[in-house]
Amino acid sequence: MTHANDVRHWMRPGTLQLQSLPPLSLYIHLPWCLKKCPYCDFNSHEWSATAAEGESMPEQRYLDALRADLEASLPLIWGRTVHSVFIGGGTPSLFSPEAIDRLLADVRARLRLDADAEITLEANPGTFEKDRFRAFRQAGVTRLSIGVQSFNDAHLKALGRVHDRAQAMAAVEEAARSFDTFNLDLMYALPGQTIADLEADVRTALAFSPPHLSVYHLTLEPNTYFAKYPPTLPPEDEAWAMLDRITELTGAAGLERYEVSAYARAGHRCAHNLNYWQFGDYLGIGAGAHSKLSFAHRVARPVRVREPRLYMERALAGNAVASAEEVKRAELPFEFMLNALRLREGFELQRFMERTGLPLSSIEPALKQALEKGLIERDTTRVWPTERGFDFLSDLQALFLP
Ligand SMILES: C[S@@+](CC[C@H](N)C(=O)[O-])C[C@H]1O[C@@H](n2cnc3c(N)ncnc32)[C@H](O)[C@@H]1O
Ligand code: SF4
Repeated sequence: MTHANDVRHWMRPGTLQLQSLPPLSLYIHLPWCLKKCPYCDFNSHEWSATAAEGESMPEQRYLDALRADLEASLPLIWGRTVHSVFIGGGTPSLFSPEAIDRLLADVRARLRLDADAEITLEANPGTFEKDRFRAFRQAGVTRLSIGVQSFNDAHLKALGRVHDRAQAMAAVEEAARSFDTFNLDLMYALPGQTIADLEADVRTALAFSPPHLSVYHLTLEPNTYFAKYPPTLPPEDEAWAMLDRITELTGAAGLERYEVSAYARAGHRCAHNLNYWQFGDYLGIGAGAHSKLSFAHRVARPVRVREPRLYMERALAGNAVASAEEVKRAELPFEFMLNALRLREGFELQRFMERTGLPLSSIEPALKQALEKGLIERDTTRVWPTERGFDFLSDLQALFLP
């Protein structure tokens, strides 16, 4: 990709008119896991499957590659402040606290980070020894996101997870001790799960008073082991009943469902994910990372080389980007709605114009249809999904397809 980091290429004239650039976040992908989970379609790789006997994870080389990747990208975000950082995976907690410390130092030396920037790190139970989370905190991480998935040993096993209930509890306890704010990821509609099982999982999670919960419906993604050998999942009506229980139980515990899958106590919404949902910009570095970057006349979506070893080689040679498409004018409304309609509070009409550079007339017919179908409500300044819109979100979003 010769033009990927060439700012003149992205700055040339075009038909869109963005009056201002949106807030910018940084995503950093750390691609390795102890074991690949059968449902997972993220860019995550079992280190031991590609390594020679006894070869350890190439932490320093990967950090060198990230640094080179970031440096090569700087011209595209010159002068812009970064409001949040998310270190995701993969299993970032496999990296040592010293490595995370170096990573954040590398970032701070090259980017202007907001003084109170949220810096999240994804951590898996079963990948830490005592005091590791505290050391991540000392390295500058402000928020931990723990991939619990379930507290039920039978379901964790069915999901192919490396951890058990006891390790999940220990990880959450340690997170609560070390961090002012943290998130737990749970999944529901798991193989063999009953409504009572789900309720037990949610109650266990809530017993830790988590400031934030993310609860995802388990989906069978193409190209995963589960797609090839599908497990028996609870019927659809039971999955809906589970979602109702989740919303009730979290609501009673003071967590608000502010996004389709995200529940938070006041003041603990995830700033980084909010920026995605508000169609903000993000630079994504690391293997397979996606970016969304706005310029005065276009929105670009660069993607890094996916395979970790090739990524390191290419990033160190200053050439980490595999493709860099421009979002087509006609596709911008749908791309915006894919994100904005996930939020309970929806979006400001003004924001749509700011972020896409398009006039409101480009979405008026679809808004009218959505209103007639009872999928959204609107006033003079905002649009937001109704309960029904939340339940049939993909139908609602599809109204904005080109
Ligand atoms: C980037 S992933 C990985 C985080 C971390 N490595 C872990 O597995 O705990 C973030 C979250 O997405 C959710 N997730 C992953 N695959 C999923 C699937 N097929 N269906 C629903 N949720 C999924 C899981 O809850 C997971 O914690
Ligand atoms: S640990 Fe997380 S990222 Fe790794 S394979 Fe499992 S679900 Fe995917």
